[in-house]
Amino acid sequence: MEKILILDFGGQYNQLIARRVRECRVYCEIKPCTVSIEEIRAFGPLGIIFTGGPGSVYEDGAPQVDPAVFTLGVPILGICYGCQLMAHSLGGRVTPAQEDSAREYGRTVTRYDTACPLFRGLPEESVSWMSHGDYMAEIPSGFRLAARSDACPNVAIADEARGFYGVQFHPEVNHTEHGTEIIRNFLYQICGAAGGWSMEDYKNTAIREIREAVGNGRVLLALSGGVDSSVCAALLAEAVGEQLTCVFVDHGLMRLNEGDEVEAAFSGRAMRFIRVDAEARFLLKLAGETDPEQKRKIIGEEFIRVFEEEAKKIGAVDFLAQGTIYPDVIESGLGSAAVIKSHHNVGGLPDYVDFKEIIEPLRLLFKDEVRQLGRELGLPEALVARQPFPGPGLAIRIIGDVTKEKADTLRQADFIFRDEIAKAGDGVRPDQYFAVLTNTRSVGVMGDGRTYEYTLALRAVTTDDFMTAAWTRIPYDVLERVSVRIINEVRGINRVVYDITSKPPATVEWE
Ligand code: XMP
Repeated sequence: MEKILILDFGGQYNQLIARRVRECRVYCEIKPCTVSIEEIRAFGPLGIIFTGGPGSVYEDGAPQVDPAVFTLGVPILGICYGCQLMAHSLGGRVTPAQEDSAREYGRTVTRYDTACPLFRGLPEESVSWMSHGDYMAEIPSGFRLAARSDACPNVAIADEARGFYGVQFHPEVNHTEHGTEIIRNFLYQICGAAGGWSMEDYKNTAIREIREAVGNGRVLLALSGGVDSSVCAALLAEAVGEQLTCVFVDHGLMRLNEGDEVEAAFSGRAMRFIRVDAEARFLLKLAGETDPEQKRKIIGEEFIRVFEEEAKKIGAVDFLAQGTIYPDVIESGLGSAAVIKSHHNVGGLPDYVDFKEIIEPLRLLFKDEVRQLGRELGLPEALVARQPFPGPGLAIRIIGDVTKEKADTLRQADFIFRDEIAKAGDGVRPDQYFAVLTNTRSVGVMGDGRTYEYTLALRAVTTDDFMTAAWTRIPYDVLERVSVRIINEVRGINRVVYDITSKPPATVEWE
C-alpha cells in the first residue's frame, strides 16, 4: 500500500496535513520526528512530509530528524519549520527574520514558479498563509527558489533532482488558496502516487488485521452509542462476529428514544449485544446531588461498576476493544505526552476486567473518517452523523438535582428543538445543539391562570473543534417555532431562553 510518512516537529496544524493527504486519497500516518531511521525504512514511505513546529532550527535542543532521512532516495516536503530544518541540514543558513522584513504572519500574497512540479497548475500569484519568525537567509546548494513574497524572497525551495521541496507557508490550512493542490502535486507529481485509497480499502484491511490479531479470541466492547464506539462495534462484528460481546450500559440519561435506536442499529448484526437497563441505579446514586463535578464523577464511577459486573458475568475475555480515534493518540514530535481528551471517552476502563490485550481498531482515523467508515459498514445515518453527546448525558444538562421527571421533561423539549432544526433544513446546521433544563422557575400566565414553572435554555454552537465555539445565529422564526412548541407540548416549562454566549468564556455544556 502507498503510504506517506508525516514527521511531527510539534506544529499545531499537523493533523490537518494528514487530513489533506488522505483527502487526496493517499494513506498517511504521523510519527514523531524522533523515530529511528530503521523505523522509517520499515514503514516504507512513498514520500515524507516534515511538519511545522514552534522551534528555531539553530537553537540547542531544536527538534531534529536523523539526517540519514535525506539519503533514502524518498521525496521530502518540508513545511515551515520543516522547510527550515531541511535548509539547515543540507547546508543552507536559517536566521531570525528582521522586524518588518521576511517575517510574516497571516495571509500573504505569494508568487509561484509554476514550472516547479510542486506548483504546477497554480495561478502565478495567490494567497498563502504564513506564520514564521525565522527565514532562510541562504538556501542550500542544489536548491533553487520556487516562490517569493514581497517581504521574503525565499518562500519556497526546490531540488528537483533529489525530490526535496520546502515551503515557508502552510499549504494545509484553508487560508492558503490552492494549498490542497500543492499537497496533491507533491503526492502525485513528485512522489508518483497512484492514489485511490478509500474507506472501503481501509475497512477491508482493518477486518483482515482484526481477524489476524484476534484469532479465536473473545472481544469485549463498552458501547456508549456514540459514533466512535458504534463504528468500532460494527467493524468488530463484521470481523469476528459472535466472538464479540458489546455491553451497552443504558444509564437512562440518553436523549429521547436513543437507547432503542442504538439497540436497533445492532440487532441484526452477528455479535452478542447486551443492553443493561441501569436507569434506576444511576438515578438513585445521583439523587439529591447538585454539584456538576460530583454528578460527572458519580456517573463515571457507576458506569465502570455496571460494566465490570457485566464483564464478570461474561468471564475472561482476550481483548478489550476501545473506540479510540486518531486525534487522541497522536503524540507530539517533541516527545510530550499523548493528547488525550480525558473526559471525552467512556474510557479509563477498568484494570479489574479480566482481559489480556486492548485493541483499538479506529486509532488511525479522524472523526469524519470514522463517520465514513460507519456508512461503509451500513450504520444508520442518524447514528453516524450524530452530534457529540457527553458521556454523563442529560445529567449535566439538568441544572441542580437530577430526577426522572426532570429527565423526561428535558428529553421532550430537546427532541422538539432537534426536530425543528431538522425541519429548518440545510441553512441551519449548528455543530451541536441541545436543551438545558435550568433550575430557575419563573411566573407566567397560561390560559387565565398563573404558572410557576421551569425555564428551559436552548444552546446551539458553531465550531470546528469544540475547543472554541460561537453561538449559532439561528433565525428568529425557527427559535419562535421551537419556543411555542415546547411551551405547548411539554409540561413543566413556561419560559424558553436562548444562550448567546460563545466559548470562551462559556463552555458548550452548562455543567
Ligand atoms: P465543553 O462543555 O467542555 O464541551 O465546552 C466541549 C465538547 O465536549 C463535549 N463534552 C463531553 N463529551 N464526555 C464526553 O464524551 C463528557 O464528559 C463531556 N463533557 C463535554 C460537549 O458536549 C462538547 O461537544
